[in-house]
Amino acid sequence: MKFICTYCSEYVYDEEKGDPATGLGPGTLLAQIPDRWRCPVCGMPRTYLRQIRDEVFSLKWSAYAESPEGPMDVTYYRNIARKMLTGFCGVYPVCDGQPGRICTGQKFGQPIGLGGAGQGKTFEANYNALQQHRLKMRVIKAHHEPEMSVSIFGKMLTAPVMGASLSGVKASLNDAIPEDAFYRGLLKGAESFGSVGMVGNTPTSPEDLGVTIVGENGGWGIPVFKPQSQERLIRLFRQAEERDVVAIGVDLEGAGSTFWVTPEKRVYRKSEKDLSELVDCTSKPVIFKGIMSVEDAARVVDSGAAACYVSNHGGRVLDCGQGVAEVLPAVAHEISGKIPILADGAVRTGFDVLKILALGADIALIGRPLARMSIAGGAEAVRMYLSYVQDDLRRGMILTGCDTLDEITRDILVSSS
Ligand SMILES: Cc1cc2nc3c(=O)[nH]c(=O)nc-3n(C[C@H](O)[C@H](O)[C@H](O)COP(=O)(O)O)c2cc1C
Repeated sequence: MKFICTYCSEYVYDEEKGDPATGLGPGTLLAQIPDRWRCPVCGMPRTYLRQIRDEVFSLKWSAYAESPEGPMDVTYYRNIARKMLTGFCGVYPVCDGQPGRICTGQKFGQPIGLGGAGQGKTFEANYNALQQHRLKMRVIKAHHEPEMSVSIFGKMLTAPVMGASLSGVKASLNDAIPEDAFYRGLLKGAESFGSVGMVGNTPTSPEDLGVTIVGENGGWGIPVFKPQSQERLIRLFRQAEERDVVAIGVDLEGAGSTFWVTPEKRVYRKSEKDLSELVDCTSKPVIFKGIMSVEDAARVVDSGAAACYVSNHGGRVLDCGQGVAEVLPAVAHEISGKIPILADGAVRTGFDVLKILALGADIALIGRPLARMSIAGGAEAVRMYLSYVQDDLRRGMILTGCDTLDEITRDILVSSS
């Protein structure tokens, strides 16, 4: 039987011939295609393949594609992710890093999967710190549709939400799909939502894989490099510039990566001089990630960077650290209005986005939830998750009396810390 990919409507899979280029031998039945397989044209999973009949082969897929069983919504993809990440992530109703989750607890030198470093206290702190703040409901005001679009790095985004930089399918995500397919899902999903995605970099893949995939995506994406030697970074920055990326990032907190430890692949702490050198070596906007103190935030501004990214890597590098929502207000007090502030850490819903913006961020970024979506359903699942977040952000803005992003201030929060 023959099947067409209903996402790209280009790829056709013929069970009789198989598809050796994607690892499927002749005679491989649809049901035997592994979960990690991806459409070689658009990167979507097997679930998008729908049977076609020879006589309609040349018609556009929409004319004959069978409707999927049940809605292919966020829940659907979460269920697939649960299967694909068995042993790594329970895909719990709330992704909070609390003790007892399968991702948390001391790993004794083993890879941490989707959890946090050490005992996972920083991951937990990200969640708990955000929960210290509650939203104040205000419903008596003339109604306006909330204006959510925002401009950053000269680009317009549908909403102040972006995909955080992610990588490392082999070590952290059960080797569930190829690393390049993972990046494509993140980038294309964010793009089709109307935002920009970031991709990280991992030592088990070529160091320029992320920037190559961003290049493939017409430059629509942000590669975030580990803080390798200046020489390597400058080389990677040049590649990024050639591919006309939206911006270039360095995750300074990556100096604590447990993976980049071989003599050829090493990471370093960076000095103020190093930061300025990196900013000066490119005409692209540069983002420094991993800022968790007022002092470092001021240095990022001094370096000439285009944005300061408040993050502790989802608690994956330093245990017993502060939660992002604890640090963010002081950072915002120091640098707000000078350069945009990006922030991530346990942002799961549109209401969390509202809170993190109220605490001083200009853009909220989402990590683990999008990793699960890209693994389970590629770009479409990532897009759906971001849309789900946007819907709740809209509702949250209406119910806290905010018509514009500028109106999202500390006044909408009731804080217990
Ligand atoms: C599986 C996984 C891989 C990650 N890989 C990278 C990376 O390569 N580069 C990077 O800057 N951050 C990386 N991060 C950190 C995220 O960019 C982000 O800071 C963090 O996930 C935000 O917290 P959240 O997951 O609670 O939303 C990774 C996070 C996870 C969970």
